[in-house]
Amino acid sequence: MKERSDNKNTALISENSIGWWKAILESINDGVLVIDHNGYVKMINPEYTRITGVTPDIIGKPLVKYRPGAQLTKTLKDCQCRVGVYRKTKDREYVVDMAPIIINEQIVGAVSVCKSLTEVHKLSLELQKQNEKVRQLKKQMNALYKVKYTFDDIIGKDGGLKDVVYVAKRVSDSNFPILIIGESGTGKELFAQAIHHESHRGNKPFIPVNCASIPPSLLESELFGYGDGAFTNAKKGGKIGLFEMADQGTLFLDEIGDMSYDLQAKLLRVLQESKIRRVGETEERNIDVRIIAATHRDLQQLVNKNHFRGDLFYRLNVISLKIAPLRERREDIPELVHSLLRSSLTPSARDGSMYTIDEQTLEFIRSYDWPGNVRELRNVIDYATCMAEGTEIKIHHLPDVMMKLEMNRLDSTLKPNGQTLKDITEEAESKHIQEILGKFGNDMEGRKKTANSLGVSLATLYNKMKKYRII
Ligand SMILES: Nc1ncnc2c1ncn2[C@@H]1O[C@H](COP(=O)(O)OP(=O)(O)OP(=O)(O)O)[C@@H](O)[C@H]1O
Ligand SMILES: [Mg+2]
Repeated sequence: MKERSDNKNTALISENSIGWWKAILESINDGVLVIDHNGYVKMINPEYTRITGVTPDIIGKPLVKYRPGAQLTKTLKDCQCRVGVYRKTKDREYVVDMAPIIINEQIVGAVSVCKSLTEVHKLSLELQKQNEKVRQLKKQMNALYKVKYTFDDIIGKDGGLKDVVYVAKRVSDSNFPILIIGESGTGKELFAQAIHHESHRGNKPFIPVNCASIPPSLLESELFGYGDGAFTNAKKGGKIGLFEMADQGTLFLDEIGDMSYDLQAKLLRVLQESKIRRVGETEERNIDVRIIAATHRDLQQLVNKNHFRGDLFYRLNVISLKIAPLRERREDIPELVHSLLRSSLTPSARDGSMYTIDEQTLEFIRSYDWPGNVRELRNVIDYATCMAEGTEIKIHHLPDVMMKLEMNRLDSTLKPNGQTLKDITEEAESKHIQEILGKFGNDMEGRKKTANSLGVSLATLYNKMKKYRII
């Protein structure tokens, strides 16, 4: 912006004087040239000189003589305004607007106002740059919200999950909302991602939102966005909501059972109308979003207790996928274990060797109840690979807590040979401790090394040795 050094003085100049008008012309950012009714240049301002290179000595001379291409004299003759006329002289490019000056219905002259094209060009370059940035950001956003999992990643699709995978694939490409029901860690998000990937929306965003982790008062504006000045502390210019971000893609509403009753009504409206309204705005916006909702709760029961809207439930429940807990499809466990072992990246696997698991441990894992389902299994396998001295996973590499829980549960469950599972595990543990002690020696130094190698404290080792009568 050109410095307007004359501003302070403007007030001092008499309004009637020529100087007052001159000061105005000198302070503006456009080039101005004025001719009288004979086509003689009356005045130019400094900006005109800067843009066109024409110097003030043109004043008092006929314009056509010095600027043969000038169209301003035409304006004088035909009294027509001309807008956006492109001019180029040497390395200068600019656009000119021209208008006749009429006083008392008489043409007394004409004025030409010009803007440097280099500036317009700069602005257009800046605009191009910003557009490119927006394009890049959109691309990044799509990449960010691209799904990680497809149906190929689902283990159990030929086993315990066969039927549910079949239905999920069949309904993937429709626009119907889907409700996925399953305990925590059963793979609800995995299914949602696979469905999105399989659908025609696969290249568009998949936006997950956990309705339980966002305070109810914020969830509405997160989902629908808000308009300018919608509330105190609102971002200037408003904010786009997750529905708009997911446009043409999928919005995954996790833990839908935790959504507030009021918001459920608004969600139902979106499902029916495919329109949203930002908080604080009246205008409605069309959106094209597929909804996949998930819950670990019994929605029918919530409906019965008036905690969940029946109308929304029936709308969502048209296509519902029930993912069975791991304990009800134990046949999938060995494949899950082997797949998790293959993907485990703990230090001992760095040399490229693969983890294995002994039969007894796999059997124990198969019979465990897995309250945290596949997520818990993944964590246990990760833990075991960290604890393993070599590349074979044994029973004592499993977390103590899990072992204790299971032992308590199975304490009284007799196996056909009269041994409880607890007996079997204890026997294995005792045998393993003796093996390691045999390797390092049953003296103080050997015990320290044994405890270290088993990943337990010396005190724990002593307790176990006492329990198994090794000392
Ligand atoms: N059938 C499966 N095959 C392979 N991996 C699975 C399977 N089911 C779940 N997983 C894995 O288990 C973990 C938990 O899955 P996911 O997050 O989809 O569960 P969730 O049902 O959404 O759990 P929550 O209710 O706690 O949110 C993920 O790492 C996922 O990849
Ligand atoms: Mg989840």
